[in-house]
Amino acid sequence: MTVQESTKASSDILVNAQALHGFVQRLWLKAGSSPTEAGLVADHLVMANLTGHDSHGVGMIPRYVKSLRDGVLALNQHVAIVRDAGAVLTVDGVRGFGQVVAYEAMDLGIERAKAMGICAVGLRNAHHIGRIGHWAEQCARQGLVSFHFVNVAGSVHVSPWGGSDGRFGTNPFCAAFPRKGKEPLVLDFATSGIAQGKARVAYNKGAKVAEGCLIDAQGRPTTDPRVMFEAPHGALRTFGEHKGHGLAMMCELFSGALTGGYTTHAETRVKHSGIINCMLSVIINPEAFDAADTEAEAEAFIEWVKASPRSTGTDQIFAPGEPERLRIAQRRSAGIPIDPGTWSEIIAAATALDMPQSDIASVHEAG
Ligand SMILES: NC(=O)c1ccc[n+]([C@@H]2O[C@H](COP(=O)([O-])OP(=O)(O)OC[C@H]3O[C@@H](n4cnc5c(N)ncnc54)[C@H](O)[C@@H]3O)[C@@H](O)[C@H]2O)c1
Repeated sequence: MTVQESTKASSDILVNAQALHGFVQRLWLKAGSSPTEAGLVADHLVMANLTGHDSHGVGMIPRYVKSLRDGVLALNQHVAIVRDAGAVLTVDGVRGFGQVVAYEAMDLGIERAKAMGICAVGLRNAHHIGRIGHWAEQCARQGLVSFHFVNVAGSVHVSPWGGSDGRFGTNPFCAAFPRKGKEPLVLDFATSGIAQGKARVAYNKGAKVAEGCLIDAQGRPTTDPRVMFEAPHGALRTFGEHKGHGLAMMCELFSGALTGGYTTHAETRVKHSGIINCMLSVIINPEAFDAADTEAEAEAFIEWVKASPRSTGTDQIFAPGEPERLRIAQRRSAGIPIDPGTWSEIIAAATALDMPQSDIASVHEAG
């Protein structure tokens, strides 16, 4: 497999990452965010686009603006420690920007894991925390291993294995392994066959999604993303048959029940425009183990895996996180592609916040 900029269609606009970052920052300042909050949100959304996960990039802005207008997303909130049990921390995101409260939750967990060897952080009630790899990378930059189990509390976009309607969210799982002097390995995926945002990107482009990812309102397989956005609604399917289904259920229980957050069921089923995430993060200092040479063992394994003879049509074997690194390099130099449907929704959201038209146009011109 080769990682190429295969997602760019001829109608897409190409935007410079730095110009886009400035635009996102100004947009949230205009909405009322503090400079720190606006910066953290811009860092996160633009990095999601740079890694190729457009589903969690600037295309989320219209949804966040709606959530703000509907009183679900609260600006300028900070994580509140609910219980401090040493190596176990329970924190509440008070429906603040996930890009802020998850950052603060990881900071607390990192400090504890460095001091105690391990820290389990239960973050509940956060507004959308976006690309989970971002949080694993924050831990990895400090030399720490981490695992993250996340639910999309109250969301019913994904059907259980054997079911025919949506019963839980796209519940992502993420794990990162830091390497000295090299980029960390970062495994980060939704437990649905495709993330909900990827169905949105396909819907905005008028494209189909891969087979096996969706069912319609009657529970029949379909490739038409309209079933996620127009009634009668269908659902996404989990990846890997019963295995993705099982992992999605564990994500829900660890993040929603264990942390004192909430799980998805009839009483909590979402009826608002916001996205609420709960996350259990287990952060470990590798130096706390009695391992003679973790690094050498890890590198020997990665090298061994990559030496496998290539199967037909494959020119490279990637470790988790490597496709994202390649895309960052490509998009930093060539620009970030944004489809016209998504871009016009972003402009409408910026206009609703009274952002000057000249400011909006400047991003397009910089592209
Ligand atoms: N906050 C939320 O509520 C929420 C919900 C669902 C998903 N998400 C996010 O959505 C994003 C996208 O999820 P997804 O399921 O579409 O991801 P995906 O299917 O693109 O899988 C990405 C993972 O697979 C690895 N990978 C991809 N191609 C590879 C290859 N050829 N060889 C080896 N490894 C490879 C990547 O490095 C990465 O770890 C994730 O960042 C996830 O955290 C967030």
